[in-house]
Amino acid sequence: MTEQTLMLIKPDGVKRAMIGNIINRVENKGYRIIDMKMVVPTEQLLNKHYAEHVGKSFYPALLEYMTSGPVVVMIGEGTNVVSGWRAMMGETNPTSAMPGTIRGDLGREWDEPAMMNVVHGSDSVTTAKYEISLWFD
Ligand code: RTP
Ligand code: MG
Repeated sequence: MTEQTLMLIKPDGVKRAMIGNIINRVENKGYRIIDMKMVVPTEQLLNKHYAEHVGKSFYPALLEYMTSGPVVVMIGEGTNVVSGWRAMMGETNPTSAMPGTIRGDLGREWDEPAMMNVVHGSDSVTTAKYEISLWFD
């Protein structure tokens, strides 16, 4: 089924000049980018985007990381793109993410409080609809 998902290139991906590499992967896979912009996310936006994580021990570090610079915000479209993009990203921890995935190829752990992992993707079709409306009003 044709779906849409929210794709973010997080501040570490932008700072480390990986925008082109990541967009190439999306286009090579055959997904379409139907909207795109660059913004520095506000704390208010992130409290909604990461509502499930507010109050967890790692949340302050996550906020600091995600507000540390601009992110690239994209709507990706294609058949089963929600799970397809999650597969392309790899697992959350970039140390254990499989080589071949974005996090596995482009990410690693650093001696910093936040787990920086280059990209974000919505985790379900319902979440995707919510996140797209949040980031693109
Ligand atoms: P995302 O939402 O960013 O696409 O990542 P995800 O689904 O793979 O992982 P999630 O569990 O939703 O966590 C959101 C982000 O919080 C940071 N995190 N740190 N230190 C920790 O234990 C920890 N756990 C999660 C990561 O930056 C993760 O992407
Ligand atoms: Mg998540």
